[in-house]
Amino acid sequence: MTTGLFITLEGPDGSGKTTQARLLAEWLTAQGYPLVTTREPGGTRIGEAIRAVVHDCAHTEMAPQAEILLYSAARAQHVAEVIRPALAAGKLVLCDRYFDSTYAYQGYGRGLPLDSLRMITHFAVQGLIPDLTLYLDISPEVGLQRRARSGGELNRLDREALAFHERVRAGYLALAAAEPARWRIIDADRPPEDVQQALRAALTTNLHEFTRI
Ligand code: TMP
Repeated sequence: MTTGLFITLEGPDGSGKTTQARLLAEWLTAQGYPLVTTREPGGTRIGEAIRAVVHDCAHTEMAPQAEILLYSAARAQHVAEVIRPALAAGKLVLCDRYFDSTYAYQGYGRGLPLDSLRMITHFAVQGLIPDLTLYLDISPEVGLQRRARSGGELNRLDREALAFHERVRAGYLALAAAEPARWRIIDADRPPEDVQQALRAALTTNLHEFTRI
């Protein structure tokens, strides 16, 4: 039984997700919400160690099955150690990526069977589904250009071909269409202030319900 509110942020690489997560967190904190911000892969000591392994550009030989199990192992630890306890304590958890990244990248992107991914994910998270998923939508061309311009460290998945990122985006849109009650699609190809306003607006109903509890 959880009393908190679990919100995830999703988006292709270069969607501005990390900056938007920071701005959203500042806004929520300023309003006094009991906020926990976290990210995947990572969010725990063990998860950050797994992140280093799974994103290492030198690990070109990594099997797709190993990749999904590593992401899922990090997620299992994250849920057990951080997310579930925070929700049980009535916190608002804002998480930068969660299992939908696995469906979009390993499922639609790599072509691994979604049924298997769902089974592994279910085992890892023990049924913990976000209350709301905010998806920052951007075309891969724009996203990857932004990512290159930002000068940040490129990970193993950034280096995938454009076609891979096209499949990831199409996957996200398919996931959102299948569960419209949980997902909000935000157009991320506009100035950051506008994206932030849209994110805040998308949260309104859930925040009202959370405050009423
Ligand atoms: P980010 O921290 O910059 O969002 O990058 C995380 C990368 O990891 C991004 O390329 C997507 C990828 N990823 C997966 O492929 N599967 C997953 O389950 C997760 C959480 C991330």
